[in-house]
Amino acid sequence: MNKLSDAELDQQTVTTAYGRWAPVYDLVFGAVFERGRHAAIAAAQRVGGRILEVGVGTGLSLPSYSNSCRLCGVDISEPMLRKAQERVDELKLANVEGLWVMDAEHLSFPDESFDVVVAQYVITTVPNPEATLDEFARVLKPGGEIVLVSRIGAEAGLRRSLEHWFAPAARKLGWRTEFSWQRYAQWAEHSLGMRLIERRAVPPFGHFSLIRFSKDVGTGAVSAAEPALRIAI
Ligand SMILES: C[S@@+](CC[C@H](N)C(=O)[O-])C[C@H]1O[C@@H](n2cnc3c(N)ncnc32)[C@H](O)[C@@H]1O
Repeated sequence: MNKLSDAELDQQTVTTAYGRWAPVYDLVFGAVFERGRHAAIAAAQRVGGRILEVGVGTGLSLPSYSNSCRLCGVDISEPMLRKAQERVDELKLANVEGLWVMDAEHLSFPDESFDVVVAQYVITTVPNPEATLDEFARVLKPGGEIVLVSRIGAEAGLRRSLEHWFAPAARKLGWRTEFSWQRYAQWAEHSLGMRLIERRAVPPFGHFSLIRFSKDVGTGAVSAAEPALRIAI
């Protein structure tokens, strides 16, 4: 883990970056990330209930959830969230409970508030990814799931070199290019009651993965309904 890289991705830089992205975000990142979003929504809806989207951005995913899901959204960027609120109002999305400016690492919700926590293209943009995942686990009900779509950095080769080279510029744009799969695997290994249940590649470019973690109903309990880990890369 590169501590210097982490330190350089500070919250002020990220907030400023997404303030700039807000007016053009849907145009630039709407279609390109659509299939990953749909995969995450499908996974979240299989659990259903009350769903928290962290880093909800301009709310591109909100209209795709079934009406039976109750949705809460948070984001660190007020300009991004304003766009999301406009979308909720225009489309009269009655299943959206609320949208709040909030830091993913310090959520103002009580423990065990949600059936699913979804974060799409977010974990590589937060200063402390492991602490943020801890916070997701805290607000998740036992039996619930964390559903992520995340960029995974290359382990070696030309892509690894390019990611390393592009890292300083990417941080100014608001994300990391270098983020190893090991960080997710180790987080799950060391988090009591949390299990990695799926990793699967999603478009674009094969650089992104849908990742699911489940929270055991009782400490140490393992659901018989699902294999401990399903990985397809
Ligand atoms: C790449 S965008 C993804 C937006 C949306 N999830 C999507 O699918 O298009 C990352 C989002 O995470 C938000 N974000 C970054 N750091 C955050 C933090 N610490 N807490 C909450 N949101 C954060 C950004 O403001 C931005 O809206």
